[in-house]
Amino acid sequence: MAKNSIEIKPLTPRIGAEVFGVDLANMDDADFKAAHDALMHHQVIFFRDQNMDVDQHKAAGRRFGELHIHPGSPPPDGHPEILIIHADENSKRIAGEKWHSDVSCDAEPPMGSMLYLWTIPEGGGGDTLFASQYAAYEALSEPMKEFLADKTATHSGEHVYRGRYNHRGIDDRDKVYPESIHPVVRTHPVTGRKGLYVNSTFTTRINELEKGESDALLGFLCSHSTRLDFQCRFRWERNSVALWDNRCVQHTAMWDYFPQVRSGHRVTIKGDRPV
Ligand SMILES: [Fe+2]
Repeated sequence: MAKNSIEIKPLTPRIGAEVFGVDLANMDDADFKAAHDALMHHQVIFFRDQNMDVDQHKAAGRRFGELHIHPGSPPPDGHPEILIIHADENSKRIAGEKWHSDVSCDAEPPMGSMLYLWTIPEGGGGDTLFASQYAAYEALSEPMKEFLADKTATHSGEHVYRGRYNHRGIDDRDKVYPESIHPVVRTHPVTGRKGLYVNSTFTTRINELEKGESDALLGFLCSHSTRLDFQCRFRWERNSVALWDNRCVQHTAMWDYFPQVRSGHRVTIKGDRPV
């Protein structure tokens, strides 16, 4: 039987594309290559009308690499690689409501995340916004690029994760959350492009600077890196999937739909130490 042809429709020239004609539960090598190439080029890609059970979701994620286990969130039984994404009328806040790159506090932060939502808020809302860190880096002046070239930053999970999952029965009093030092500008291992790699959720300090200098520069970089013209915004439908490259993208989820339900699963793909 002839396969559907694959079509890639960019959301903006800088970031984001919708991929049509790929069934993530049944990807052949050509589908995978098309999706992977689109991800490398557009940094975040979107799929509509997908239908995956938990094992198919994990298998689809594994095409892109080994799966990562989240340092804090309790998984569903038997599936440590699954991160539950759920908000409803009992949610006081949601994870991911500030700009971030997923788990950047890990020594080897995840390269990618594949989020599959099957319940979306009835009245709309709950969009996810993505910002290209290539675009953010490329828009800096040459003197600023030179200044940042050898700087490193501390990324900490402590203030992000401590107590976050208590309401789901996790006692984390004895747990030590990751903290890592990464370059402020990283080079993507596949594309070779440079991108900013600091974010307002995890990054606490630019290590080579005095605290006041670090606070001021981080403030600038975090607001610059999420400028409107570096962004795309994804409007979820039931059974949509977003797959983003954490090495060159920051994202944030809109918390504008309380008390409606937004629910799904994420698998996260392991990455390398940033350089
Ligand atoms: Fe996230």
